[in-house]
Amino acid sequence: MAKRSGERARCVTGIEGFDTVLYGGIPRSNTVLLTGSCGTGKTSLALEFLIHGATKGENSLFVSVTENSDKMLANIIPYNFFTDDLVESGKLVFVDLPVMYERLGMTKAELSMEEIDLLVTAIASLARELGTKRLVIDSITSVCYKLKTSEKIRDFVLKLSKALTDIDCTSILVSEVAAQSDSYSMFGVEEAISDGIVLMANMERRGDLLRTLQVIKMRGTMHSRAKYVLDLTPEGVLLVPLLKGGSTRA
Ligand SMILES: Nc1ncnc2c1ncn2[C@@H]1O[C@H](COP(=O)(O)OP(=O)(O)OP(=O)(O)O)[C@@H](O)[C@H]1O
Ligand SMILES: [Mg+2]
Repeated sequence: MAKRSGERARCVTGIEGFDTVLYGGIPRSNTVLLTGSCGTGKTSLALEFLIHGATKGENSLFVSVTENSDKMLANIIPYNFFTDDLVESGKLVFVDLPVMYERLGMTKAELSMEEIDLLVTAIASLARELGTKRLVIDSITSVCYKLKTSEKIRDFVLKLSKALTDIDCTSILVSEVAAQSDSYSMFGVEEAISDGIVLMANMERRGDLLRTLQVIKMRGTMHSRAKYVLDLTPEGVLLVPLLKGGSTRA
């Protein structure tokens, strides 16, 4: 009979309330899908995860796909704990994936299986060279549009996730879904492969549009399944329980 291993090491996100929801943080080297419709705070939460990592000395990498990273940084909430020296010291690195596509000669609208392998190798090699312990891809949905078929998406996410796990990197893949969608990802494939799913949403309440966060699954840990109200502040993301909820063993 297989022997049960001990408690998995945690990647403490540093995001107020989120580590408590996750009973201590994301199990190290998990690949987590951070999914939600537009404006729900996905980029803000993902960036905060990296800033706290970099501040603690964990090399962090933000792979920007949907918009270039300079534009993203200019538009995001100005966190008062984000200092330029994190970037200058190389603890926090921003890379634009379209630049990588160009360097790899991936100019076509659809990537071939060989190009997928090349892309996975390029991202994993970069993460290895930089000693990356926390990685964000914003968004994986934009990459999937270049893959087109479920088979290719499955291949890409599985290979990338394995390569990142092999270097003990904890990853957040940002996933875009339509509002009111009953799926956690645009192509339905990404959610099945990920180690964790964190759902962000907009919720109308008494004429106010609230942002909410809920952990749907997280392999390797117990977690709350309650819905939390998420507040985006310059001090970071704050989570407050919406209703009393239970917990589950993932
Ligand atoms: N400079 C700012 N100051 C205060 N709040 C801001 C600022 N910039 C953005 N925000 C808030 O953050 C919200 C967007 O958050 P974020 O970009 O993290 O969401 P997202 O889910 O990544 O959105 P998208 O679907 O566009 O990628 C905005 O709607 C706005 O309320
Ligand atoms: Mg975003």
